[in-house]
Parts: sequence; C-alpha cells; structure tokens
Amino acid sequence: MTSKRQLVVSVVFAAAALALLGGVLWWERAHPPATWSAMPSGKPVRGAALFKDKGCVRCHAIKGSGGNSAPELGSDLDVRRTPSQLVVSMWNHAPRMWAQMKAKEIAYPKLGEQEVADLFAYLYTARCIDETGDAERGGRLFELKGCNRCHGGRTVPTKESPPSLDSLRSSASPVAWARAMWNHPPLPNDEEPPQFEARDMNDVMAFARKGQSIGLDWLLVAADADRGWKLYREKACVTCHSLRGEAGRVGPDLGPGRELPATIVQLAGSMWNHSLAMSRAMNAKGVKRPRFSDAEMADLIAFLYSIRASEPGGSATLGEVTFDGRGCGSCHGPHGEGTESAPGLRGKDRRYSSISLGTALWQHGPEMNKRVVEKGVKWPDLSEGDVGDLIAFLNSAPAGRS
Ligand code: HEC
Ligand code: HEC
Ligand code: HEC
Ligand code: HEC
Repeated sequence: MTSKRQLVVSVVFAAAALALLGGVLWWERAHPPATWSAMPSGKPVRGAALFKDKGCVRCHAIKGSGGNSAPELGSDLDVRRTPSQLVVSMWNHAPRMWAQMKAKEIAYPKLGEQEVADLFAYLYTARCIDETGDAERGGRLFELKGCNRCHGGRTVPTKESPPSLDSLRSSASPVAWARAMWNHPPLPNDEEPPQFEARDMNDVMAFARKGQSIGLDWLLVAADADRGWKLYREKACVTCHSLRGEAGRVGPDLGPGRELPATIVQLAGSMWNHSLAMSRAMNAKGVKRPRFSDAEMADLIAFLYSIRASEPGGSATLGEVTFDGRGCGSCHGPHGEGTESAPGLRGKDRRYSSISLGTALWQHGPEMNKRVVEKGVKWPDLSEGDVGDLIAFLNSAPAGRS
C-alpha cells in the first residue's frame, strides 16, 4: 500500500521536475542570457579617462592625439580590436612596453579587472572608425540616387523644406548618420528607396562632410551596450528580429549568428535600404515606427556589435598543448599546476576571460618578465587563435578534481 503511494508520489514528483526543467529550458530560450552584453561590461567613456589617468596617452596616441613613442591605437580599420585580439597584442608587446616605461621612468600602471574591461571597451570603440569614403563619387551618387531632389538646396528654403545639403553636414558622423537614416521620412508615393551597396553610403556621407576625414565618434565612446539591449526591447526590434532564433521572425535574425555590415555607415545604408519593407511590416503588425536620438542609436549600435565580440570559444585539450608549447609550462608547470618559480593557475575557483588575462598581464607581467630574464628564456608570444583554447584550459579542473 505504502509502496504504491510512494510510487505515485515519486511519479508526480518526476512529472513536476520534468515540467520545471521544460519551463526552465523554455525560459532560457525566451530570455537570452544577460551575459551577451558582457563584452563591454566595460564602459568606453571610463576607458577614455583611464587612458589618460594611467599614462597610456603619454606614449600612445588615439586618432592623432597623444604621445608618439608607441603605436597609434586608434587606426587601422582592418584590425578589429576584440578583447582576445587586444590581449594578444598587449601580451606580445609587453616586455618592450615595460622597457620603455622604465627608461622613461613612468610607473607601471596598476589596473584592476574593471579598469581593463573599460580600457578594452575604449580601445575597441576607437578602432570602430568608419571609412572616410570618396567624396567625389559620393557627389555623383547623391544625384544618381535622387537625394538632391530634396536636399539639393537650390530653391529658397522654407520652414517645411527638407534640410539643405549644407545642413546634412551636422548629421555626417557614423552614429548620427545611422540615426538620420533610421528616422528618415518615407519617400513620397510609397516609392522604393534607391539601394546602396557596400561602401556607397560612406561615399555619400563623405560628400556631405565635404571630404573631411572621420575622427573618433564620441557618440560611440559615450554609448552603453546595456542601455542598447534595453532599447532593443523597448523599441520593439525584438518583436520582429530574433537574436538567436527565439523571438520575432518577421525580419532577419540580428544575433551573433549572422554578420552585420562591417561598419556603422554601412549599417546605416542597410537600414535605409530596408526602410520601406520594414515600415510595411510594422504597419502590418500595428507597430509604430520608433524614432531614435543620437545617443539612443549609439547605444543600440554598441549592443548589436557587442554581442558579436563575445569571448572566443576553445578547446581545453588544445589549450593544454598550447600552454606548454608556448613556454608557459616552463614556469607554471606543464599542466598549470604551479612550480616553485610561478603560481598554479587552475582550479582556484576563478573564471578566466580575455579581460582577466589582460588584467593578469598588467598586474603580474613585470614580475613574470623578470623571471623570463633571470631564466634566460624567451618571452612567450601568443597568437590570436590561442586565447580561446588557453582560457578553456585554464578554466578546466586539474586532474584528480572535478
Ligand atoms: C612608456 C610608454 C608606454 C606606456 C605608458 C604605455 N605603452 Fe603600450 N606600448 C608601448 C610600446 C613602445 C609598445 C610597442 C612595443 C613593441 O614594439 O613591441 C606598446 C604596445 C602596446 C599595445 C600593442 C600595440 C599594437 O600595435 O598591437 C597595446 C594594445 C598597448 N601598448 C596598450 C597600452 C595601454 C592600455 C597602456 C596604458 C595602461 C599603455 N599601453 C601604456 C609603450 C607604452
Ligand atoms: C522626398 C524628399 C527626400 C529625399 C528624396 C531624400 N530626403 Fe533626406 N530628408 C528629407 C526630409 C523632409 C528630411 C527631414 C526629416 C526630419 O526633419 O525629420 C530629411 C532628412 C535627412 C537627413 C537628416 C538631416 C538632419 O540634419 O537631421 C539626412 C542625413 C538625409 N535626409 C539624407 C538623405 C539621403 C542620403 C538621401 C538620398 C538617398 C535623401 N536624404 C533623400 C527628405 C528627403
Ligand atoms: C514589424 C517588424 C519589424 C520591426 C518592429 C523592426 N524590424 Fe527591422 N526589419 C524588418 C523586416 C521585415 C526587414 C527586412 C526588410 C527587407 O526585406 O527589405 C528588416 C530589416 C532590418 C535590418 C536590415 C537587416 C539586414 O539584412 O542587413 C536592420 C538593420 C533592422 N531591420 C533593424 C531593426 C531595428 C534596430 C529595429 C528596432 C528599432 C527593427 N529593425 C524593428 C521588420 C522589422
Ligand atoms: C619565466 C616564467 C614564466 C613564464 C614563461 C610564464 N609565467 Fe605567468 N607568471 C610567472 C610568475 C612568476 C607569476 C607571478 C607574478 C607575480 O606574483 O606578480 C605569473 C603570473 C601569471 C598569472 C597571474 C596569476 C594570478 O594568480 O593571477 C597568469 C594568468 C599567468 N602568469 C599566465 C601565464 C601564461 C598564459 C603564460 C604563457 C603564455 C605564462 N604565464 C608564462 C612566471 C611565468
């Protein structure tokens, strides 16, 4: 009798547990984890202040302002500064950087994990400069695509007339241009918007800028990916665009599984290209087209790009080989277990990430470099593909522990 009752009870429990599990899985699908915005858990604007306060600016310039004894850190569009790329370039350049600090009698900056996150977010943003574009070609496109019909500015302006070409200039920075393209009024009579391919929009913007090159976009430095994630929900993007196939499917997925245009001005072009189709979809769904301020557009862009710059994945097995192969094992032991000359790194309940590796470099690097010199070994260089594997290895439990 009792055993039958026990059976019933346990069946009920099992069913409840299953339902709970199902519920959790459903919830996880419906609620993308907040860690997506974890990459810029750093704030670029705080990073900009640290870059000055910690003395980086005495040697490094960003967009031409700062010292010139070290590489410029704000140029080179081809090098995207994801956290793992930053760790690798700092790691490999560190001994020479410290040598210069010593020579110049600049104290080694002490950086905590949050500060490294802030600096990385700033350096990442500083690299997100757009291409300046070809103003002459832009001028031809401006006519060809019919922008000059309204923005030609040949007629005497009235209060209602569209802004003149000259006044478009005030919107001619990447984030402001994206805001302008998003907020742009529809063309009359449901006209299809003329399409912009690849760098066309950069050329048009260059024309509006009269060829002046693009500097650091301060709107982006002030941006906040967490606010962008909030806007993404509040402005109803989420009703039509899923991020990982879990929500709206009316428009294309905008999550990390799909490439976004390479630069912000190209994203602006894509928003323009799709504006009519998107408006129609909104009408059909009874969604009012949201408007954006410059700051809001900056936050949204920071969010959309940040979820693509997440931590690299990797294999702990490969990481173990790399760890020893790169020479880390000669001090930390082949399995990272520690030796008398360097501490053990694994199984200490810490989670490594690109940010914490960067922090370890600033906190322990000079001491590490001293041992390198004492032992007469080579400073271990890293390559970009190593970081994900190394992190996976450092985060795995040492043998004998689970
Ligand atoms: C005393 C001058 C000096 C200071 C201060 C300094 N650096 Fe450097 N840094 C250098 C030099 C020199 C190099 C290039 C070393 C080489 O040639 O390998 C470098 C390289 C780098 C690189 C790699 C550059 C590349 O081309 O990939 C990064 C990233 C970097 N530093 C970041 C920082 C940050 C962040 C700070 C402040 C916390 C800082 N540096 C402070 C001198 C300095
Ligand atoms: C049918 C007329 C018309 C056409 C064609 C047109 N625009 Fe506009 N545009 C406007 C109006 C009207 C505004 C002002 C909207 C407002 O104030 O919200 C505007 C605003 C803008 C702004 C923002 C200006 C600011 O200072 O905020 C930009 C940038 C812009 N247009 C670029 C373009 C480009 C590039 C093209 C060609 C692809 C184009 N426009 C085609 C009518 C037009
Ligand atoms: C009512 C549905 C709907 C809403 C709401 C919506 N979109 Fe869209 N969006 C679409 C559709 C449909 C397309 C594809 C249009 C086409 O095929 O030309 C699209 C296309 C896009 C594209 C171009 C994608 C590409 O392939 O490059 C971007 C970027 C975009 N939307 C951003 C946004 C953002 C940001 C928001 C929130 C502010 C938003 N959308 C809100 C329906 C929507
Ligand atoms: C020449 C010896 C040597 C080599 C080679 C070496 N390290 Fe270190 N490492 C040290 C020493 C010594 C410390 C502790 C420094 C201190 O106490 O400030 C350290 C500290 C660290 C820390 C910080 C530990 C903590 O508790 O926060 C990390 C992470 C680290 N090393 C990773 C590496 C990686 C990854 C490599 C290979 C790419 C490497 N090390 C190569 C000697 C070395």
